[in-house]
Amino acid sequence: MRITKKKVAIVGCGLVGSTTAFSLITQGICDEVMLIDANEERAYGEMLDLNNCIEYLNRNVIVKTGKYMDCGDMDIVVIAAGAPPKQGQSRLDTLEASAKICKSIVNPIMSSGFDGIFLVVSNPVDMISHYVYKLSGLPKNQVIGSGTAIDSARLQNFIGQITKIDPRNIYAFCMGEHGDSQMVPWSTVTVGGKPFFDVLQDNKEQFGDIDLEGLVHKTTQEGWEILNRKGTTYYGIATACAGIIKAILNDENKIIPVSTLLEGEYGEKDVYAGVPTVLNRLGAADVLEIHMTPGELTRFKESTKIIREYTDKIIKSDSQLSAK
Ligand code: LAC
Repeated sequence: MRITKKKVAIVGCGLVGSTTAFSLITQGICDEVMLIDANEERAYGEMLDLNNCIEYLNRNVIVKTGKYMDCGDMDIVVIAAGAPPKQGQSRLDTLEASAKICKSIVNPIMSSGFDGIFLVVSNPVDMISHYVYKLSGLPKNQVIGSGTAIDSARLQNFIGQITKIDPRNIYAFCMGEHGDSQMVPWSTVTVGGKPFFDVLQDNKEQFGDIDLEGLVHKTTQEGWEILNRKGTTYYGIATACAGIIKAILNDENKIIPVSTLLEGEYGEKDVYAGVPTVLNRLGAADVLEIHMTPGELTRFKESTKIIREYTDKIIKSDSQLSAK
């Protein structure tokens, strides 16, 4: 008989990492959570606090601290360490600092014999995910970025508020960069299966003056609305990460827009971008190629162009990668 435990390591115990751990244990998503942080005392404190939840959870769970070399038997390693943008900085401004931190994490984790799935949350997430993919040498399905999962959830909320429908009944994907250049293929958005454009057409008096560009802008700005008020975002992104981890560990085949390597899909190659992706035990098992209008595809390609430009900056200047 063989019973295997579902194990998740979280690297970076700041607000995003520790809230992800909290979300994992309160939802009973895995059997073991291992916390790793450059500041070992911080990781230890989070571990003690999280352990105090157990009596009141619906299941037991092991919460412990560890080191990179302990990651060999982990199913998923979440990379939540990085240099979060400060007020006035864009996510792209944090690229070099985050890349440096992630490199110091990925190399020792790979030396531990890790062969699970990296879930990258550190911003700018598309570029850092690509970098982790290159550094790790793992197959592309095993390196996933949280991508536009959180943006899409925000957009669904906005559409839900306008239509007064449960946001979970709305299918709306933000695609491309988890950043200012992301786009929404409006022609594919549905409310309970009904095309959003038909909803607008059939209810002109109610929604006649809806500003779709304004909604995209509001969605891209939501992170800043939060950051400007409380310094950083974590509940939303941490819950999105827990959802991604649940889909993987439970082999759900759930479609979530995450950042994954495109290899011909949407006419794009060699770029990590947020696209609807089938998540199961393999990680990013497949990309859903939704049919966009030519105008939407152009917007998507404008976004991937920006991602590629910034990704090149870190990958081309890395001697470890150019030596390969
Ligand atoms: C946000 C962070 C994850 O948008 O970039 O909340």
